[in-house]
Amino acid sequence: MALMTWTDKYATGIASIDNQHKKLIELLNQLQDAMLAGSGNDAIAKILDGLVQYTVTHFAHEEKLFAAHGYIEAANHKAEHEKLAKKVAEFQREFKAGKTKLSVTVMNFLRDWLNSHILVTDMKYAPFLKAKGVS
Ligand SMILES: [Fe+2]
Ligand SMILES: [Fe+2]
Repeated sequence: MALMTWTDKYATGIASIDNQHKKLIELLNQLQDAMLAGSGNDAIAKILDGLVQYTVTHFAHEEKLFAAHGYIEAANHKAEHEKLAKKVAEFQREFKAGKTKLSVTVMNFLRDWLNSHILVTDMKYAPFLKAKGVS
């Protein structure tokens, strides 16, 4: 079973954002599949790298839109991005050093973070950016 499934409740109505969120969900599911299949550390590290890289790209995309349109909540939003990025980078480092393993707890943390970040934090900018003509 997928860890997370895209439904309309996640739709911001901004195509670039919704497509990126779909991709993030897909990458999370791939990571969980690899874990459940008992894939080796190298294979998991590769998927993890892809997820981290795509997350950085996605955060940068949102932050660029905030800057371009003067989104007033940008600083708080960026702080949430940074906190997660730091945490994931730390996990990535420890995983590669063989100090920690990918677990159900880690996967659930990532899913819960993405779920609430989209539903609460990202949804806040949706009406603002749409009003600015972002699609
Ligand atoms: Fe987002
Ligand atoms: Fe965000």
